[in-house]
Amino acid sequence: MFESVQTAPPDAILGLNEAFRADPNPAKINLSVGSYKDETGITPIMQCVKQAEERLLRDERSKDYLGIHGGEAYGQAVQNLLFGAQHEAVTSKRLAVAQTPGGTAALRVAAEFLAKQFPHATVWISDPTWPNHLGIFQAAGLKVRTYPYFDKQTNGLAWEALKTALAEVAPADVVVLHGCCHNPTGIDPTAEQWRELADLLRAKQALPLLDFAYQGLAEGLEEDALALRVLAQPGTELLVASSFSKNFGLYNERVGALTAVCRDASVKDAVLSQIKACIRVIYSNPPSHGGAIVSTVLGDPALRKQWEQELAEIRGRIGKMRRLFVETLAKLGVQRDFSFIERQRGMFSFSGLTPMQVDELRKTHGVYVVGSGRINVAGMTTSNMDALCKAIAAVL
Ligand code: LMR
Repeated sequence: MFESVQTAPPDAILGLNEAFRADPNPAKINLSVGSYKDETGITPIMQCVKQAEERLLRDERSKDYLGIHGGEAYGQAVQNLLFGAQHEAVTSKRLAVAQTPGGTAALRVAAEFLAKQFPHATVWISDPTWPNHLGIFQAAGLKVRTYPYFDKQTNGLAWEALKTALAEVAPADVVVLHGCCHNPTGIDPTAEQWRELADLLRAKQALPLLDFAYQGLAEGLEEDALALRVLAQPGTELLVASSFSKNFGLYNERVGALTAVCRDASVKDAVLSQIKACIRVIYSNPPSHGGAIVSTVLGDPALRKQWEQELAEIRGRIGKMRRLFVETLAKLGVQRDFSFIERQRGMFSFSGLTPMQVDELRKTHGVYVVGSGRINVAGMTTSNMDALCKAIAAVL
């Protein structure tokens, strides 16, 4: 039977990462997958994570299954971090939280839930977006449409075009938004624009689905939650797919959450029961270790403080790399204005490099950039900056 199986194309991001690993070039530079590198070029384990793991090793008593939707302590920690413990959505108990293996599983479970409950909904995703969004919603059988997001002329948000497109959203359609640090562009709406967007979606009776994978990587934990909190006004509904891959550096532990913000507490149990039914037939129940680390850190004031400091260092280093990248390109005499890179937020920026230039960067210089021109700024270091910028200057 397997002889008829055709080779699938490599994944736009993870496929490139595999190619990077296989490349014997000692001077290769990886700006493909969104994982943070420290100044020495490795993806470090946070100290707070190591300490939590020591505690878990000492105190953990059982490896028995978690519930289908994960642990209670984890669910509460997620709510408090996303919304703030005093937020009305938390205190009124209208949040249904399921622990998931990463943000990707949160999105896939959300997609299955939507496909089962609202099979006629159209899911709107930004153009461009994280390439896996399209695959995830289509895999669940949902219809997908796009709305414009990126303005090539200004390297900013295509705000008017976005609003014009979303005017076509029908009641009970789903609009996927990036909570902060838009992937791939690094461009987020302003606070004012988020408010306008929330009003527009409410007027349309559309359901926002917030992909929130980078809390704490733009300006800070509270600041970055602005969009979520603007969207979660009393009485409104919302889905949130969140992840601890980036802000805890727990990439390979696969730890995330799907949160359904319900209109009020009375519908929460039914929604959670349907989310659990979706999970049961995909992965049954989530892995425990990553979630246990997160709830240990967030539940201990000293570890939490340390985590916030370590996260601030990550944020600071990414900002420094953005500045250094722009400066180094200018110093090398590159004429094109790259100053927009400094205005963008989080790990990614849309460099404006063409697919041909991206190809040339990889083949001739061992620099790995996603085909769309997305660069992972968090993969730059002071020591690879010169080589990287010289390679970019050469392909330009
Ligand atoms: C990325 O966009 O590089 C990350 O979110 C990793 C992934 O799964 O694609």
